[in-house]
Formats: sequence, structure tokens, C-alpha cells
Amino acid sequence: MHLGITLSQFLADEQRRNGSVPADLQTLLNQVAISCKLISNAVNQGALAGVMGNLESENVQGETQKQLDVITNEIFLEVNEQSGQLAGMASEEMEDVYQIPKHCIKGKYLLVFDPLDGSSNVNVNISVGTIFSVLRHEGTASHPAAADFLQPGTRQVAAGYALYGSSTMLVITVGSGVFGFTLDRNIGEFVLTNPNMTIPADTKEFAINASNQRFWEAPVQRYVAECVAGKTGPRGRDFNMRWVASMVAEVHRILVRGGIFMYPKDTKDPSKAGKLRLMYEANPMSFIVEQAGGMSSTGRQRILDIQPEGLHQRVPVILGSRNEVEVVVGYHAE
Ligand code: AHG
Ligand code: MN
Ligand code: MN
Repeated sequence: MHLGITLSQFLADEQRRNGSVPADLQTLLNQVAISCKLISNAVNQGALAGVMGNLESENVQGETQKQLDVITNEIFLEVNEQSGQLAGMASEEMEDVYQIPKHCIKGKYLLVFDPLDGSSNVNVNISVGTIFSVLRHEGTASHPAAADFLQPGTRQVAAGYALYGSSTMLVITVGSGVFGFTLDRNIGEFVLTNPNMTIPADTKEFAINASNQRFWEAPVQRYVAECVAGKTGPRGRDFNMRWVASMVAEVHRILVRGGIFMYPKDTKDPSKAGKLRLMYEANPMSFIVEQAGGMSSTGRQRILDIQPEGLHQRVPVILGSRNEVEVVVGYHAE
């Protein structure tokens, strides 16, 4: 019988091929994959588990937490603290750094994550995901502080996401391309199905929450107006639009067939630079997109070059097919 290449096999092979995944990082990524399988099961149970509701609590960003936001956060913490490879973790759902408990072995990596991305979609049975980013703990303190996490995205050693869609997939980069794995539930393994994912440079598909149009800045107004104008407008071709409201699903679509995704700076809430969070949404997705030949910018700056100022900092995000992102960045420069 032919068994495809499993995630752990792939990681070991990558280390032999180009030295990009040392044994300790392999152990960590395999453990992350286990947490994503458990989250997949939790999400897949749906209403059967009776956890489809909202909680009374709010997270640090003032968003109402869903029961599954909290459950998936706990799964991710509990599974990965046992990896023996972590100095600390940080999550969308926790204000401060999570310290590895005393009874667990510590390691030299930091793990930052969004346990359930697109959680507004969870009780309407639309795709959700998990996003993660791995950094090195450069400091010497055994209890890392937030400052130890505040490294620009260029310093990520690995990043990835799990997509809980019509199938469950894990897409990762360790800095040598982007690889997609599909969960084979018969053997409980992620199997390589999408080697060397690359984003086409051109696209006719854009994704933006158009209900925010009145709050956008002029360059984004112009770009979207020109897309919508279609064949007889300045772009000379018809565009298509999509908005899932799960960043993981949008990025995955772009990796498979191209496209541009924007959650730009807007004036809806002047205290926020954008909606998406730098450390556990924008940075890991930007690492993946660049590794797949795409581009990722705030409109004014490459996202991976941003020096983070806070664990939950928000940034504008414009990412996807290179030539389209360049058009939007060009409009910002004018
Ligand atoms: P989260 O569920 O982790 O808070 O993230 C949701 C994010 C992102 O996945 C998505 O692109 C965006 O919020 C959707 O925002 P709108 O509801 O404003 O469209
Ligand atoms: Mn999210
Ligand atoms: Mn989330």
C-alpha cells in the first residue's frame, strides 16, 4: 500500500535536505500538529459538544469570547507545554505571556498563536483555523517577558496555520517554501498533499470587508473602485470578490488560486491601526505568503520588517498575489 509523506517524515527529510528543521524544532512542530488535530476534533463535534455559545468574558482586545475560543486556547497550551521545546507562549486569548509550568521541561523557542481564527464563523459551520508563529527565545531569563516576544517577523523560524474546512489541512513554512498537508483521519496523520505552494503573481480576485468602505483611506478606495469598474474601467478586466471573515480561509484560497486580501487601515476606530494582530495573524501569514512568492504590506511598509511594540498590536494587512499588492502599495506611495 502507498503511504504518502507524513508531516514528521517531511520535517526529518527537510533537515537532511537543507538543515532548516533541527530535531528540537521537528519535535515542536509535530506537537503543534497534535494540538491542531485535537482542535479539529473539538470544532468538528459542533453543537454535539454543546460548546457553540458565547461566554460572559471578553478577551484582552475587548471581544466577546466564544466557548470554543477558550477551549481551543487551553488545548493549544496544554499540548504544547509538554513539547519540552518552549520557553513561553503568547496567545490572542491571554493578555500576558504564558509561562511553562514547573513540571514541564523547558526549551529555547517561543510560540505565539491565534487558537481559533474566524471564531464568528464557528456556530454557522463555516471554515475556521489556528495560526501559529515560532520565534527563538534569545534572552537568558527562564521566565520570558513580553519584550522577548517582540521580534520582527523576519526572525520567525517557522509559521503555519491549520484550516478546519471541508477537510482539515496544516500549511507550514520553515523558511524553505510552503507545504500543505491534509489530515488523513484513517491514520490520524497529516499527509503531504500540496508541496511547494506558490501564489500566482496575477489575480482577478480581491477580498475585503466592503461594509467598512466609508472608513477606508484614499488608496484602498481607489484600488477597490477600479476593480469594481471591471472591463471598461482603468484595470481593463473584470474582478471577482470573496469575503469569508476567516483570515485562514482567505489566505488558503490565495495560496491555492491567487488573490489579494485586505484588512486595511481605516478610521472606524482611530485608536486601532487595523483589525488584525501583528504577532499571531499578520506575521505568520506574511511569512507564509512571502515564502510562496507573494507579497505582504501594510500599504506603507513590509509587514515582516515591523518592530513590534506590543503582544496584541494591530496592523493594516494587504497580502497575496505580488503584482496586485504592488498596485495597492503604489497607490499609497502616490
Ligand atoms: P478572530 O476570530 O481570531 O478574532 O479573527 C477574525 C479576524 C480574521 O480572521 C478575519 O479576516 C477578520 O477578523 C474578519 O473581520 P470582520 O468581521 O470585520 O469582517
Ligand atoms: Mn484571528
Ligand atoms: Mn481567534
